[in-house]
Amino acid sequence: MVKCLVVYGSKYGSTAEVAAAVADGIGADLANAASQPDIRPYDVVVIGSPIYAGNYMQVVRDFLRSNRPLLSKRKVAAFITAAATWETPVGLTGDTDEGVFTQQEYADGLAGMSGGQVLDSRGFGGRLDPQVLDESDFGVLDWFYRYLMKRPLEGFDEIDIPEAYRWGEELRQTVGA
Ligand SMILES: Cc1cc2nc3c(=O)[nH]c(=O)nc-3n(C[C@H](O)[C@H](O)[C@H](O)COP(=O)(O)O)c2cc1C
Repeated sequence: MVKCLVVYGSKYGSTAEVAAAVADGIGADLANAASQPDIRPYDVVVIGSPIYAGNYMQVVRDFLRSNRPLLSKRKVAAFITAAATWETPVGLTGDTDEGVFTQQEYADGLAGMSGGQVLDSRGFGGRLDPQVLDESDFGVLDWFYRYLMKRPLEGFDEIDIPEAYRWGEELRQTVGA
């Protein structure tokens, strides 16, 4: 039997919800990257990260770094969550010439960073609730909206759990789990 694990990072919970739906769709185990899961028993590892300030979450980058030798011998897939509704979808600066990537490019990049045999990668919309942000995140985004997007900071909820579940089912078919 093919054993699959979904490993994710999440600060405010939306990527955790998407990861749980993907894991359900696959029939996979689920672990937060912060818990430093042991991936040795798994044939397939799906990695999920939100995009923060144009980068993957630190805990996910740490997970990739410390598991690189093992991941290079595994089948992998990756997904990201990001601000689907922003005009410049994932770049923080709004500069369209450089440093701005599409959700799909971010997802491809995450899969590539694992060093494993890539099965698929996918970008998902995330969620942002200004009410729950910590002071530092609120400050960054308040500035970003006001000065670059020229409108007040507003939240969004682009999470699509059925879509995440369907992607999980597709992965299950791909790996024959
Ligand atoms: C401080 C901060 C910075 C963010 N930076 C980006 C960004 O650069 N690009 C983007 O597309 N989304 C950005 N987002 C949106 C998050 O990727 C999105 O809200 C995601 O769903 C959060 O995941 P989590 O709930 O699992 O922590 C940012 C959100 C916050 C709070």
